[in-house]
Amino acid sequence: MAEATEKPKRRPRYRGTHPRKFHEKYKELNPEKFPEAVQKVIASGKTPAGTHRPICVQEVLQVLDPHPGDIVVDATLGYGGHAREILVKILPGGRLIGLDTDPIELPKTEARLRSMEIPADTLSVHRSNFAGLARLLGTLGVEGVDMVLADLGCSSMQLDNPVRGFSYKLEGPLDLRLNPQKGQPASEWLAHAGTSDLERIFAENSDEPAAALLAQGLVDARLEHPIQTTGGLAKAVRNILAESRLRVDEAAVKSTLQRVFQALRIEVNDEFGALETFLRFMPACLKPGGRVAILTFHSGEDRRVKKAFQEGERAGVYASVAREVIRPSPAESHTNPRAASAKLRWALKASAEPGVGEGPNPNL
Ligand SMILES: C[S@@+](CC[C@H](N)C(=O)[O-])C[C@H]1O[C@@H](n2cnc3c(N)ncnc32)[C@H](O)[C@@H]1O
Repeated sequence: MAEATEKPKRRPRYRGTHPRKFHEKYKELNPEKFPEAVQKVIASGKTPAGTHRPICVQEVLQVLDPHPGDIVVDATLGYGGHAREILVKILPGGRLIGLDTDPIELPKTEARLRSMEIPADTLSVHRSNFAGLARLLGTLGVEGVDMVLADLGCSSMQLDNPVRGFSYKLEGPLDLRLNPQKGQPASEWLAHAGTSDLERIFAENSDEPAAALLAQGLVDARLEHPIQTTGGLAKAVRNILAESRLRVDEAAVKSTLQRVFQALRIEVNDEFGALETFLRFMPACLKPGGRVAILTFHSGEDRRVKKAFQEGERAGVYASVAREVIRPSPAESHTNPRAASAKLRWALKASAEPGVGEGPNPNL
């Protein structure tokens, strides 16, 4: 009998010489098959489709200082970039407990990490909101961990996939949920929000100076057309800005769009609520002398982290905390523009024994 030959898959058709749409970037979406193509994209300062470049990796490793045998929580696994580096440092004998709320990317990330051929019990992966970390550790029978990392916000995979509806640059449903199986998509929230709700989220979640104008404008716009897509929302915001003549140059319009999408994303995912709970229970999750490092990407996140760490230090829960934020190097921000707004803060839990632990180098 003739052997069945597998037909080679056709690459997606696209106009021009380079694929522009997410689903057309078949080389980037198959990095194992096309490693050179992926390297070329990275060298050009872009993030290959379907991946995420970890930010401040060296700075995070310096602050947390993982060693063989350590128990570490990566509360925001994402693509697993930080986790991969940490896993190498904690072997042999260590354990990485990885969380992410995203049910779509998490299984792919787990498969990638397991392909590192680490002992099976070195890694456990949990589809969980980090607000529930203390409870999760309880169910795992872990009394405290040596270190916790959280790299807040969304990943490039979420941002670049039009189906997830995270970006004003890509047409798709206006969803914006990190876990699309929970809560309501941004389009639904937007359909029922009052002017004051909208004004509040624009002001509180993204420091938008034209919060009142945009809130009223969107309430008026949705009376004419329901806003159900990323493109629909972007168009409505552009119209509001054009009619008011408030922001006319394209760069200012794009910054406004970015803030509008950020504010909605934070709202539909209750990101500040989750962060506050995570910070409140953090000391209970750490062993005495344990460390936490948190990467934030905008002022609302950084304010909350700074406040919780400083209050913890005053209360004697933390022995020391970051005096200044640690920023990515200019070289990193240049090659990965998504790193540019990152700020890293750390805290060291007070030790049961007095005088132990001086904390990460504050001059980092
Ligand atoms: C910036 S990415 C992390 C990237 C990761 N450090 C890496 O190196 O690939 C943020 C991730 O955190 C997840 N996330 C955001 N808020 C979360 C929460 N409250 N609980 C669990 N995961 C969350 C997102 O789904 C996303 O995958």
